[in-house]
Amino acid sequence: MKRVAILISGGGSNMIALAQSMTGDHPARPVLVASNDPQAGGLAKARSMGIETAAVDHRPFKGDRAAFEAALLEPILAAQPDILCLAGFMRVLTPAFVQRFEGRMLNIHPSLLPKYPGLHTHRRAIEAGDAEAGCTVHEVTAVLDDGPILGQSRVPVLTDDTPDTLAQRVLAEEHKLYPACLREFAAR
Ligand code: GRF
Repeated sequence: MKRVAILISGGGSNMIALAQSMTGDHPARPVLVASNDPQAGGLAKARSMGIETAAVDHRPFKGDRAAFEAALLEPILAAQPDILCLAGFMRVLTPAFVQRFEGRMLNIHPSLLPKYPGLHTHRRAIEAGDAEAGCTVHEVTAVLDDGPILGQSRVPVLTDDTPDTLAQRVLAEEHKLYPACLREFAAR
C-alpha cells in the first residue's frame, strides 16, 4: 500500500478528491495533509476525514526557502510518504527539495502544459482567444510546471467566459483527472 502525503495552500478541493479516491482496492492511502498556511481551509477538512495534518507558516521564514522547507520536511518525513501530491500548493519548491522526491512527486496545474506555466492561466487562455483550456497532472522536476505529463483534461473556452467561470469548469476536471493519474502512478 503506497503512502501519499498531500501538500495544500488553500481550500484543498483537489486534496479532498484525492483522499476520497483512495479507498477499497486503490493501491494508495493518504497519510498526511500539510500546508504552508496554518489557516488553510483544507486542513480542517482533512482532519474531518481522519487524515493527519501539519502546517508550517512560510511567512516567518521571510523568503528563506531552504529554512522553510527544512521545517516543512519534518512532518513530511515523519509520515514516511512514498508519493507526494502537490494540490493547490502555491509555494515554489527549491531544486534540493524536489530532488528528494524526484520521480515520486506529482502536481496538478490548471492549464494544458506546456502552455501557460505559472500563474493566471485562465485569464491568459481567454486573452489569447484559445478555444480550449484544461489541466495537467505532471511529475514535479526542478523546472516549474515542466516535468513528464501523466494526463490532461480539456474543456471548451466559451465566448462569455471569465477567468472565474473557466476556473470552475477546469476545477471540475481536475477533481477527476488527478485521482485517475494518482491511481495509475501508485499502481506502477
Ligand atoms: C486551483 O486554482 C486549482 O486549479 C489549482 O490550485 C487551485 C486551488 O485548488 N490546482 P484546491 O481547491 O486548493 O485544490
